[in-house]
Amino acid sequence: MAYRITLLPGDGIGPEILAVTVDVLKVIAPPFDLEFVFQEALIGGAAIDATGEPLPAETLEKCRNSDAVLLAAIGGYKWDNLPRHQRPETGLLGLRAGLGLFANLRPATILPQLIDASTLKKEVVEGVDIMVVRELTGGIYFGQPKGIFETETGEKRGVNTMAYTESEIDRIAKVAFEIAQKRSGKLCSVDKANVLDVSQLWRDQVIKMSANYPDVELSHLYVDNAAMQLVRAPKQFDTIVTGNLFGDILSDAAAMLTGSIGMLPSASLGESNPGVFEPVHGSAPDIAGQDKANPLAQVLSAAMMLRYAFDQPEAASKIEDAVQEALNQGYRTGDIMSEGMKLVGCRAMGDVLLKILA
Ligand code: IPM
Ligand code: MG
Repeated sequence: MAYRITLLPGDGIGPEILAVTVDVLKVIAPPFDLEFVFQEALIGGAAIDATGEPLPAETLEKCRNSDAVLLAAIGGYKWDNLPRHQRPETGLLGLRAGLGLFANLRPATILPQLIDASTLKKEVVEGVDIMVVRELTGGIYFGQPKGIFETETGEKRGVNTMAYTESEIDRIAKVAFEIAQKRSGKLCSVDKANVLDVSQLWRDQVIKMSANYPDVELSHLYVDNAAMQLVRAPKQFDTIVTGNLFGDILSDAAAMLTGSIGMLPSASLGESNPGVFEPVHGSAPDIAGQDKANPLAQVLSAAMMLRYAFDQPEAASKIEDAVQEALNQGYRTGDIMSEGMKLVGCRAMGDVLLKILA
């Protein structure tokens, strides 16, 4: 089976971690009778430098015409002060909207090998296995009106709008219930229904949807309490579903339970368009080009691609097992380094994986 994959290396450490991942995919293909056809496209700062825009039309077109998109990371100091429509982040949001990727899956699983890398106590994080399902194309990120306007007195007023329609809530709730069903059957919906009308509608719709999933145990938390519970007793959570902004914040918190954000993959999925698979971490401009980056979140994102986009769970597991094995053998990049382990760079970590997979 042949799959077309669009590669978006982006900025900072992006090209380094994506190069390692492509090598891993090339090795995994033959034993599973898979064929990958890669094409590259520009996004983020790299695209701004080359074309003046963070998401050139050609990039979106290439992504649409592929079976999946592997994105590395975008952004850097260089582009931080450009007008908003020219920022790397705007390119990423345009990609999500352009491909209709309303469901963002962010697993936070602690690996036993890295338990000491977490800033939380071992007994708190041991066994943590959470899936954050974040709505990705609505809410305050996209609601209208938005902008900085001048009032009658000449004072400036910044405005964003948090809005969700019933159908937007229904489709993300459906994804979350189905994921919860396949996991431990527990779903926690996070909102701010004690204050926000948009959250009240969210909660009402999620409750309505729950009638279709009698086997899933649904609970609700306000977002402030959810943030507290995530660091207090994270093992109470299995699947979490929430809106765009709350999901952005809670997924970073959940990521830190696992010790390193450098280990976490994500999948962004829509109804029919190709999904985008990318690490949760950013472009780490401070270590870019130095061969220090941890490529494992990107590699694990490719595993998610195999599982969710290509329905190749065995190939996905093979990659995930290889990552575990590399850690078992004591190899660590700087971000997950601890005493007695073998410090390696990005490329060398990739070579360890290739050797394990060979
Ligand atoms: C994320 C990031 C993005 C977001 C930024 C880079 C636009 O923080 O993917 O979590 O806010 O969604
Ligand atoms: Mg974020």
